[in-house]
Amino acid sequence: MSNARTVDVGGETPYTIAIGPGLLSDGTALAGHVRGRHVLLVSDSIVAPLYAGMVREALHAARPDLAIGTFILPAGEESKTLAHFGHAIEALATLGATRDACVIALGGGVVGDLAGFAAACWMRGVDCVQVPTTLLSMVDSSVGGKTAVDIPQGKNLVGAFHPPRAVFADTEVLATLPPRELRAGLAEVIKYGAIRDARFFQWLEQEREALLAMDGEALALAIAASCEHKAETVARDPLEKGERALLNFGHTFGHAIETEQGYGGLGNNNLNHGEAVAVGMVLAARLSSGLGMAPATDTDRLETLLAGYGLPTRIPAGLAPQALLARMRLDKKNLAGRLRLVLWRGLGQADVVPDVDESRVLALLSG
Ligand code: GLY
Repeated sequence: MSNARTVDVGGETPYTIAIGPGLLSDGTALAGHVRGRHVLLVSDSIVAPLYAGMVREALHAARPDLAIGTFILPAGEESKTLAHFGHAIEALATLGATRDACVIALGGGVVGDLAGFAAACWMRGVDCVQVPTTLLSMVDSSVGGKTAVDIPQGKNLVGAFHPPRAVFADTEVLATLPPRELRAGLAEVIKYGAIRDARFFQWLEQEREALLAMDGEALALAIAASCEHKAETVARDPLEKGERALLNFGHTFGHAIETEQGYGGLGNNNLNHGEAVAVGMVLAARLSSGLGMAPATDTDRLETLLAGYGLPTRIPAGLAPQALLARMRLDKKNLAGRLRLVLWRGLGQADVVPDVDESRVLALLSG
């Protein structure tokens, strides 16, 4: 791990995020987090053919005694279901995994969320090591212990908080990431600038070309800065009782779009998670400006930056405003049946706003 940057996540269950090239083949580092003898490697049908063999071999070389099972999901958000969760649990049972087993999640957010949830539930909780292979999962979903599956009524409605034992973000794998997936990850990177760090936002404005060209140093800096923002937040508020909710800027609108259009997949043009969050951030920022909370110029700057990174900023055609609003009512942040949204006060400052007037939201969704 000599070339790796590290970010420490503090709090009651501390762990380290390692960021750098070549981590997937560092069996000693990976195996160092396996306490027992059983490993279930969870991946998907795109990532597994590229990297699962390498990880298995690296683990075996470091720990020849390990019994390593593999569970492969069909790639795509459509796989984040209770049915596939059940199959992952069956794979742990078939492996004979004991309480000291380790689930290794090798893939993007879908794999990380489902594998993490299986680890949270098997024998009431076994270890999970997150090995994210997309930019989005490196900067967001692999860190902080949120695990879940989707149901038709909404995203991530069934899940658990289960912090990983470690996170290994191998930046070399980003070379095989499709450009659309890279941009989706950059939406979550931009989110940290928008809600917490105006200087980082400005840096993202300056480094757009380098990041879109996948410049290794710029990407590593963006990943490390994003992980530091996430680590600080989740260490203070692991269970989202307060400030962690700010990380959901754009997500209530975004999840409503994702659920209403049908989850983005390989065989359709539906917005993927990062794209939906990009649209959601613009909507949240616009609502904030409309409510007099944030300067309209900052909202315009956010929209310009997202568009400059090739991200969508408008609700896709054909989604009914009332239907989107109905989806938003099922958001996990809502309390007592009232909309509770993350809005902003301008660059670098977000706030949770309770009891948002639904008619303002509907007007925005209709506009
Ligand atoms: N993705 C937001 C969070 O982990 O809290």
